[in-house]
Amino acid sequence: MVLKVGIIGAGGIAKDAHIPNYLKCGEKVEIVAISDVAIEKAEEVAKEFGIPHFFSSYEEMLEKVELDAVSVCTPNKFHYPATQAALNAGCHVLCEKPPAMTVKEAEAMAEAAEKAGKILTYGFHYRHAPQVEALKRFIDAGELGEIYAARVTAMRRRGIPGWGVFTNKELQGGGPLIDIGVHMLDTALYLMGYPEPDTVFGVTYQKLGNRKGVGLFGQWDWENYSIEDLARGMITFKNGASILLDTSFAANVEKHEEMNVALMGTEGGADVFPLKIYQEKHETLIDITPSYLPNKGYHELELARFVDACVQGTKPISTAIEGVYLQQIINGLYESAEKGEAVKIGGKVRV
Ligand SMILES: NC(=O)c1ccc[n+]([C@@H]2O[C@H](COP(=O)([O-])OP(=O)(O)OC[C@H]3O[C@@H](n4cnc5c(N)ncnc54)[C@H](O)[C@@H]3O)[C@@H](O)[C@H]2O)c1
Repeated sequence: MVLKVGIIGAGGIAKDAHIPNYLKCGEKVEIVAISDVAIEKAEEVAKEFGIPHFFSSYEEMLEKVELDAVSVCTPNKFHYPATQAALNAGCHVLCEKPPAMTVKEAEAMAEAAEKAGKILTYGFHYRHAPQVEALKRFIDAGELGEIYAARVTAMRRRGIPGWGVFTNKELQGGGPLIDIGVHMLDTALYLMGYPEPDTVFGVTYQKLGNRKGVGLFGQWDWENYSIEDLARGMITFKNGASILLDTSFAANVEKHEEMNVALMGTEGGADVFPLKIYQEKHETLIDITPSYLPNKGYHELELARFVDACVQGTKPISTAIEGVYLQQIINGLYESAEKGEAVKIGGKVRV
């Protein structure tokens, strides 16, 4: 079967990751259509990659073209409506991260996927990193024991995006926490077995982004900067585990960028990026480092596995329910930061 794919949003992630990696799937996939509210972008990308149909509205695309699967590559605000429309049109969906803007939206997306009997998965490409895959095998074999604590780091020194709408709270829902912190948080949760969150305590700061400064990711729109530049958080889980999180677009730290997850378990611990495992064996403290890891692109694996899941009907690596837990934590941290107090994550995930 050839999977007929449509793309919603013809920006950076569609052009750099989704489309080229669908094309690498060869005869398994045909990219049939693309839509973007900016029709000239849709047209330009369609021409560049030989996509036969382009539209200014995804509703029109879903109505006029028969599709099996859709990539949602819009700003965060439109993840929910675009995903719902694609699921209602009978498509499998790979939606970019974060899942949505609110917990209600993420829940409704998971419910719609369940009802439609279609795959809904999210663009957490770090799950496909060789370090994560290798560590997962060690964890599944019990090498870390019970993982009861983790540290999540997604820090940039001056990495405020100077393009797109990443500094616009209304369109993105927030700053580094929902944009890059979410990647490392998802990685930590995945390796910890996605425990159910219990309570979160968050603090956010806007100290550097709202004034002119050195932009390692281009000159951002500091005059209309409406997001946090640093977010910190403590997350506790119903199984007793906890995570400490630090994430920034801009902060006065040494490294230009640091993305990592550190895990602490009863039988061992680990840093993920770069991968190092810490254990005590035969009365000796030892560190294990891989001398070889495969070198395949994270996005390439993500897209290829999404295609295989659609064609073979297998479970995707990142699920809609996990998306709900993640959204509960993200929105809980923002709510806690606003209130200045800890927030209990409410209710069971319904789906
Ligand atoms: N996985 C990753 O590491 C990664 C990296 C970058 C971006 N992203 C995610 O991808 C999404 C898009 O980011 P980007 O960098 O491509 O942004 P971008 O600004 O480059 O592109 C977004 C595109 O969506 C279009 N758009 C806006 N509203 C639309 C709508 N209602 N229907 C159709 N198109 C619409 C815009 O015109 C624009 O062309 C975001 O959710 C972001 O978080 C993920």
